[in-house]
Amino acid sequence: MTSRAIRPRRLRRTPALRDMATQTRLHPGDLVLPVFIREGLTTPVPIASLPGVVQHTRDSLRRTATAAAEAGLGGLMLFGVPERRDAVGSGATDPDGVLTVAVRDVAGEVGDDLVIMTDVCLDEFTDHGHCGVLAADGSVDNDATLARYADMAVLHAAAGAHVVAPSGMMDGQVGAIREALEAAGQQDTAILAYSAKYASGLYGPFREAVESTLAGDRRTYQMDPANRREALRETELDVAEGADLLMVKPAGSYLDVLADVAAWSPVPVAAYQVSGEYAMIEAAAAHGWIDRDRVVQESLVSIRRAGADLILTYYALEAAGWRAGGLAERRHTP
Ligand code: PBG
Repeated sequence: MTSRAIRPRRLRRTPALRDMATQTRLHPGDLVLPVFIREGLTTPVPIASLPGVVQHTRDSLRRTATAAAEAGLGGLMLFGVPERRDAVGSGATDPDGVLTVAVRDVAGEVGDDLVIMTDVCLDEFTDHGHCGVLAADGSVDNDATLARYADMAVLHAAAGAHVVAPSGMMDGQVGAIREALEAAGQQDTAILAYSAKYASGLYGPFREAVESTLAGDRRTYQMDPANRREALRETELDVAEGADLLMVKPAGSYLDVLADVAAWSPVPVAAYQVSGEYAMIEAAAAHGWIDRDRVVQESLVSIRRAGADLILTYYALEAAGWRAGGLAERRHTP
């Protein structure tokens, strides 16, 4: 056989051949839509740095939950924006706080048709914007924060959350939450551990979305973007503490980390395409510098290809629609 007979281009010749040979597909069930609900709103408020994303009212959140269930999405990740904040983030453990009410609303609307996930973190509820409570010297107090996370998780589970997701990167957070859930009789609530969460500059638009008051950064508790090996240590600890799912965050700039974790993990691995990743695509597209739809699709396929079983993305609803129309349409365009 001459080397000329080996022609990889054969499988690239027609859209149908390419579609048949493709190795990575997106499915709506693998996508999770992050949503923001702000206390006291009567109409949804757009988020300037996240075009197309809003702070929801109770009503618009319920409608979005229904749309997500109809689109076959995997789930929703809920973030609350409270009216009042204080040093310990009291609103986070208020049975009638914004996030707890949102969980009850969504559970009442879609029940088990959608996986309801909640952010277990204090940063939206503290007046200093850190993910935990502070010690006298101003540092984030790891163990005092664990007790707050445990209370929050139990509250969310009782309100109807299927999955609680601690995103602060406190040491021992998964174990503390697991123990509290067991003790509260909520043993069936799963934990999605933000295991490898980097102290990234890519959360900027999210901070606008939740009206964050954070002045400094999270480098004393979240990971150094330069570190790869440490992600395995963090994920191993979380699995040992009882995590049901793991997460790498952000996604696009951390595909090597995602591939490492996916190769090792005995549980499903999520990746979070964060607000800054979304904003960068939208901003470049608004200038006409990139083909928006192609780049959105490429960004999500790349995250899947690197090993993510599920993707948290602000594009979730849009991407779910591709199957019905967009993707098939594109197949017939050269
Ligand atoms: C913490 C949390 C953040 C994000 C998810 N959970 C913000 C932060 O760590 O500052 C960011 C997600 C995004 O940027 O889209 N509650």
